[in-house]
Amino acid sequence: MRLNGRETRTIWRDDEGRGVWVIDQTLLPHRVATRRLEDCAAVETAIRDMVVRGAPLIGVTGAWGLALAVADDPGDAAIEAACARLLATRPTAVNLRWALERLRAWLLATAVAERYAVACAAAERIAEADVATCATIGDHGAALIKAAAQRLDRPLNILTHCNAGWLATVDWGTALAPVYKAARDGAKLHVWVDETRPRNQGASLTACELQGESIPHTVIVDNAGGHLMQRGLVDLVIVGSDRTTRAGDVCNKIGTYLKALAAHDNKVPFYVALPASTIDWRISDGVADIPIETRDPREVTHIAGCAADGSLVEIRLTPQDVAARNDAFDVTPARLISGLITERGICAANADALSRMFPDLAG
Ligand code: MRU
Repeated sequence: MRLNGRETRTIWRDDEGRGVWVIDQTLLPHRVATRRLEDCAAVETAIRDMVVRGAPLIGVTGAWGLALAVADDPGDAAIEAACARLLATRPTAVNLRWALERLRAWLLATAVAERYAVACAAAERIAEADVATCATIGDHGAALIKAAAQRLDRPLNILTHCNAGWLATVDWGTALAPVYKAARDGAKLHVWVDETRPRNQGASLTACELQGESIPHTVIVDNAGGHLMQRGLVDLVIVGSDRTTRAGDVCNKIGTYLKALAAHDNKVPFYVALPASTIDWRISDGVADIPIETRDPREVTHIAGCAADGSLVEIRLTPQDVAARNDAFDVTPARLISGLITERGICAANADALSRMFPDLAG
């Protein structure tokens, strides 16, 4: 997708040396900078510090991390140790486990001398598959959006939370892929962008993406969604997912649950766009079974941004030494979800519909 007028992806292989290049998302929208991750340790840091973030992109970057670990030591013990270290970087997005488990199995079944080449090829395959999957999610979701937009004589108002756009994947995105595809097909749209405290992925990343694609949008504070829904100013909510249970509960960025409650109360359709790699078939109860990442309270007490002179600054919002808590995700129960937009089509958020949609994965 387009960033500063240029087509780009979020991650690509370094053709000249060992490593991968990524866009440093901690600097957006104020700086567009790339960073080379040259070994597994650099990948671990980039995921933990959210230089790369978003469930599908975390999975792809993790796969590259394992490939780079294999470059240093292709032995079984080193592979197991790298998987454990990478898995510990961010506990909620299940795509990381999905990618690492697949790659680990392929590597352990490969002769040691061939492991690095196999790992790089597999990481590239996982990245390409992510692009194709997101594009297909976009097609299915765009049909839904275009049908809703056709019934109106004004732009369709879509609300989204956090960033589930192309920056959260390799390209296209999940929740925003339908928006991009519908807009390219001529649908008249406007997007309400939740700022998404504490890290403001909506205000910084989603707004930056929508600007790049020239899609009308308005950033709102996280608490505004319910109010806008009560006034008929939201037609549809689409968000992403970091982990979806086999029963259709969805874990996504903190604050998603409150939007789902408000949407339910106001009869606004609430959809979740997700690739199958986000479904954790081992669990059913999202609230009981999904590990919720807790991050540094400093993300709550401080805020980063761009000063008038263009420098990047961080300021404190709270009294010094105040207690703060930073749960990064919450769980939206399946009963509040109108439908799941997947690469195989749109289905209801329940165990039956999901296992009918993915009979080969549901077990
Ligand atoms: O903490 P983040 O920025 O990694 O959280 C991202 C989200 O919550 C996204 O909505 C989710 O990963 C879906 S991404 C296509």
